Amino acid sequence: MPPIIAVSNQKGGVGKTTSVVNLAAGCGLAGLKTLVVDNDPQGNASSVLAERGQGTSIYAGGQPKPAGQRPNLWVITAGADLLEQEQILGRQNGGRLTLKQRLAPMADQFDVIFIDCPPNLSLLPINALLAASHLLVPLQCEYYALEGLSQLLAYVDELREGAQANLELCGILLTMFDPNHPLAVQVEREVRSHFSERTLPTVIPRDVSLAAAPSHGKTIFDYDPLSIGGLAYLAATKELLHGLKR
Ligand SMILES: Nc1ncnc2c1ncn2[C@@H]1O[C@H](COP(=O)(O)OP(=O)(O)O)[C@@H](O)[C@H]1O
Ligand SMILES: [Mg+2]
Repeated sequence: MPPIIAVSNQKGGVGKTTSVVNLAAGCGLAGLKTLVVDNDPQGNASSVLAERGQGTSIYAGGQPKPAGQRPNLWVITAGADLLEQEQILGRQNGGRLTLKQRLAPMADQFDVIFIDCPPNLSLLPINALLAASHLLVPLQCEYYALEGLSQLLAYVDELREGAQANLELCGILLTMFDPNHPLAVQVEREVRSHFSERTLPTVIPRDVSLAAAPSHGKTIFDYDPLSIGGLAYLAATKELLHGLKR
């Protein structure tokens, strides 16, 4: 099985989708056959990588489609049904393992798989955490970031103790970083002192190109590869892949 990376953080607007789209595109450029599973009913990753609302979600049998002309990049879109799926899963016995079961037969076709998650700890992200071999947490360096992270990791431990989950934290990625903000610098220091091994050396800066690219339906490598955000995601891709190989 390839690495299956759940990109999760119960907070919204911390750079999960931006990280999924651009790390996945980076992996594709590096020659790895890469799949993005959009597991967020907001469908933001889908709207960059494919037509929004196109197809059905993976829960309803959605299959990988090429993500436009991008090299080695494939996507299973969120689908208009994803919001409803959450309720369907809630009524099913074992509705926590559906994503894992749906991914299993197709996983071997890929070298790496990313799962984008909604900003909560409901059944959709639970499905992602139970399907994944790895967890990547994008973290914005602000007050309460560490509390949120501890809460998420405690939750993952609970899933692990229930012997259902078998995932390992492969990275904390600091996002939207502003080096002129003293609090951001302090939070970075704290995160690195608690999770030195797990925090990716590269920090993703706040960058207008990263913010603008999705509105053009583009990854940062389509839109402005040499922007500071583009170079940062390239470096982060390399570090992530290096960490997975260890
Ligand atoms: N490094 C960055 N610099 C500037 N804007 C960013 C950056 N990362 C994300 N954004 C923007 O911030 C918003 C939230 O990011 P997003 O990736 O959608 O977060 P999430 O998926 O965690 O909700 C989006 O509008 C996105 O374009
Ligand atoms: Mg998102």
